[in-house]
Amino acid sequence: MEEEEIKKFVKKRYSEMAKAGVSCCPSCKCGSSLIEFGKRIGYSDEDLRNVPEASNMGLGCGNPVALAALKEGDTVLDLGSGGGIDVFLAAKRVGHKGKVIGVDMTEEMVEKAESTARKYGYTNIEFRLGEIESLPVEDNSVDVIISNCVINLSIDKEKVFREAYRVLKHGGKIMISDLVTEGELPEEVKKSFDAWAGCIAGALEKREYLETVMKAGFKKVKVVSESSYDIDISEELKGKITSVKVEAYKVSK
Ligand SMILES: C[S@@+](CC[C@H](N)C(=O)[O-])C[C@H]1O[C@@H](n2cnc3c(N)ncnc32)[C@H](O)[C@@H]1O
Repeated sequence: MEEEEIKKFVKKRYSEMAKAGVSCCPSCKCGSSLIEFGKRIGYSDEDLRNVPEASNMGLGCGNPVALAALKEGDTVLDLGSGGGIDVFLAAKRVGHKGKVIGVDMTEEMVEKAESTARKYGYTNIEFRLGEIESLPVEDNSVDVIISNCVINLSIDKEKVFREAYRVLKHGGKIMISDLVTEGELPEEVKKSFDAWAGCIAGALEKREYLETVMKAGFKKVKVVSESSYDIDISEELKGKITSVKVEAYKVSK
């Protein structure tokens, strides 16, 4: 599979979802309502009440904001912000002295999230069009980076983590929710464009994922929670996919 072809397919798929205004969970079986799905991956009732409805597109695999211990005044960056659910949640935590930036490569996602932010009058949020492999963000400018079910979609994950490291302030951290695999995936899954866009085919084995984070320079790399990701997934993949929440710091030791 050509790398550019995969990226084009992924972008097209997310652009269609943004335009349709509806979506389904990563494995695209759409078996549960968005609220139910949100609760199953870790959002509380209060979280879901506190974000604009349109931002919950059922595309995540965790709730990184719940684990990120954000503080008032923090600058937060969300990699692959989609409809913006985690950006809106984080905006509430950092308050008017803080700022949350969402970056996404799909124009229609950025437009959708921007329009939601305008509609509800958020002033501490900014959405930027861009790729997470080449972030449109200044060096050493961010306190916390979050991301929810996105880095698995990247063809060059090491580059993503190096970019995350570059834009973080010294002492800053990442709190990433993502899918990883337990062992090798079947060849036909790895070669499927649908499985790429569905956050499965590009997932790394857990050990390789954590090594990639360390290679980028991060220290204190830790899986803070993990659970088998069996929501709306095909029988063949049951037990093979894990949702991990990974924390790591930009510090010298
Ligand atoms: C599975 S969705 C997750 C969206 C959001 N994080 C959430 O939890 O609802 C993946 C998002 O990442 C974006 N994306 C995928 N690959 C990307 C890349 N290389 N650079 C920037 N955005 C990317 C897609 O456009 C899409 O909006």
